[in-house]
Amino acid sequence: MGHVALVTGGTRGIGAAVAKALQADGHQVAVSYAGNAEAAERFSAETGLKAYRWDVGDFDACAAGVATVERDLGPIDILVNNAGITRDGFFHKMTRDQWRAVLTTNLDSLFNMTRPVIEGMRARGWGRIVVISSINGQKGQMGQVNYSAAKAGDIGFVKALAQESAGKNITVNAICPGYVGTEMVRAIDPDVLQRRILPQIPAGRLGEPAEIGELVRYLCSDAGAFMTGATLSINGGQYMV
Ligand code: CAA
Repeated sequence: MGHVALVTGGTRGIGAAVAKALQADGHQVAVSYAGNAEAAERFSAETGLKAYRWDVGDFDACAAGVATVERDLGPIDILVNNAGITRDGFFHKMTRDQWRAVLTTNLDSLFNMTRPVIEGMRARGWGRIVVISSINGQKGQMGQVNYSAAKAGDIGFVKALAQESAGKNITVNAICPGYVGTEMVRAIDPDVLQRRILPQIPAGRLGEPAEIGELVRYLCSDAGAFMTGATLSINGGQYMV
């Protein structure tokens, strides 16, 4: 039987692929988005899934958003913390705004989104929490001191919360995608992407969003019950841990 699932940043890129994979598995899926209303409308028209607008960096907005989704669809059993941004630049030139924006959206969001759903999951004795971290949280990346710090923080969050939650049949896992063909990656200077990044990927290509979606689908299934606290690399061989 399907569960109610919420995917943050779910109207584009990896999040949209995750939402579609969960929908295909029979779940009732809601997605959130921050500001691109046009993309949200396109996504909803394509999938029939409702997109809700709020900022995952704002705790009160997250609590209100969760309440609205639960009123519309029922208690949230599956949460995929996917929403993320980059503000790349060398650290010696990085501004406080670049630091704060990335830490707020990519790390504070885990508290803001997970705190309002975890008590319900514990009370019902079932839950799935997936965090989309990054290869760059595992290995660090020049130009991304802010992003690498936040994404490494995501992994610590997962490991601690998984220990607290396992006894309540709630799994908590991190996926670390490598470079996937999304707008975020395509925004990198094409010369840097072709000349510096692609040669680092043994598979010789960018990942497909659907490849991440399939992994999330497994983690959220009953078959994935024994996997918790894991950090799953999916990066075409770029970084092996
Ligand atoms: N890997 C290897 N080398 C890189 C690199 C990378 N990811 N990014 C930059 N470089 C190299 C450049 O090729 C360049 O080398 P040369 O001097 O030999 O040409 C050198 O670093 C300096 O780069 P720039 O000339 O571009 O310097 P800049 O000050 O204009 O910009 C930068 C520096 C901000 C790091 C910029 O190059 C950049 O944005 N790079 C991409 C950083 C990156 O990988 N971001 C990932 C975004 S996607 C994502 O985050 C999703 C995910 O989870 C994987």
